[in-house]
Amino acid sequence: MTQHSLLQPTGPRIEPENVPAPPPASTPGGAVPPPGYLVPEDHTDAIQTALLDWFARHKRALPWRKRYTPYEVWISEVMLQQTQMERGVAYFRRWMERFPDVAALAAAPEEDVLHAWEGLGYYNRARNLHKAARRIMAQGGVFPDTPEGIRALPGIGPYTAAAIASIAFNIPVACVDANVERVISRLFDVDSPVKQEPAASAIRQWAQRLLPPGKAREHNQAMMELGALICGKKANCPQCPLERFCTARHLGIVHERPVPGRRAPIVPLTVASGVLFCRDKVFVQQRLNTGAWARLWEFPGGRVEADESPAEAIVREFREETGFAVRVRRSYGIIRHGYTTFRVTLHCFGLELEDESAAALRDNEGRPLPEVLTAATDCRWLAPEELTGIALPAAHRKLADRLFSKEQKYFLMLLEHNL
Ligand code: ADE
Repeated sequence: MTQHSLLQPTGPRIEPENVPAPPPASTPGGAVPPPGYLVPEDHTDAIQTALLDWFARHKRALPWRKRYTPYEVWISEVMLQQTQMERGVAYFRRWMERFPDVAALAAAPEEDVLHAWEGLGYYNRARNLHKAARRIMAQGGVFPDTPEGIRALPGIGPYTAAAIASIAFNIPVACVDANVERVISRLFDVDSPVKQEPAASAIRQWAQRLLPPGKAREHNQAMMELGALICGKKANCPQCPLERFCTARHLGIVHERPVPGRRAPIVPLTVASGVLFCRDKVFVQQRLNTGAWARLWEFPGGRVEADESPAEAIVREFREETGFAVRVRRSYGIIRHGYTTFRVTLHCFGLELEDESAAALRDNEGRPLPEVLTAATDCRWLAPEELTGIALPAAHRKLADRLFSKEQKYFLMLLEHNL
């Protein structure tokens, strides 16, 4: 453990003479440490100035950095918790076209909100955005402008509340996301896992202490921007405006910070999914109101049990979930999709009904309807092009694209086989 690591901001200051002996000329990462290390605890003003100056020159031109409305800041921050910047910007632009303000979001049907969110995952975030917009409108249509008021909205945790409070309203609260954790853990050489105590509290306190008066909006964005552009997993120290204040850099251990915590094991999951055709339309169902994909649409299917093949599983799942007796026409191959805590292997099949005339219930074009739905609240027969208008989980979207996007060879095969 390095002598000064994990000092609380309120604890004893590191004196330069207490800093361990200078590192060798070449660090374990191969980089040459800079001369003239300045202990960060004693140079907060200089750090603030260097950071703000760097941000003014290097910040990315992002669509929500024009007006800083609370609505735009909120949506961008929640999206960026789900995806990388480039994709986040694309989603943000589409979202603002569809829901330009809180009132438009509140007035939209939930299905449209889920559809605009499709592909970002964690659909509860989208449902909470919608719920919060409705609450804001019910309470007079004014976005709350205090940290407590913001935090009270559905789905807004400490990070998002701090981001909105500081970036939209310039309230002096520090934002701590993974970028900021990385920057601070290197600057102050935090030598234990950053998401756990005591490091988590120490980082929060350092982040708060680094805030310059009256500059929360710029400073918080600058810290995150630095973490994203310079102080990434692979750091670009020679370009960093804080290089001379950085303790990990001084010690040659930048690549050892932040200290990671234990990761949750990733669980493999084998499932089968079936595209049931009936006279040029495909069957989809809307998932129940609970669980990660609540109210999204899907091709029916489920887990492949230990004692069955994927083809047997899809026939069984269709019977259990819809009552339909189906047979497998062909395999559409395997789709793999990684989620945070599990990795799905999806065996995909093209199906047809065993006996189209058996059903008692019909839709208005005469296609059979299930007498029961055990894993869904609604179902539809859709033309393939209509699949673009509903929200599907990511793996099911991959399957729909594989079958029905015009560039795909499967599309030609389906036409050829009239399936
Ligand atoms: N990542 C998440 N929020 C950000 C922001 N406001 N600026 C830069 N990077 C971010």
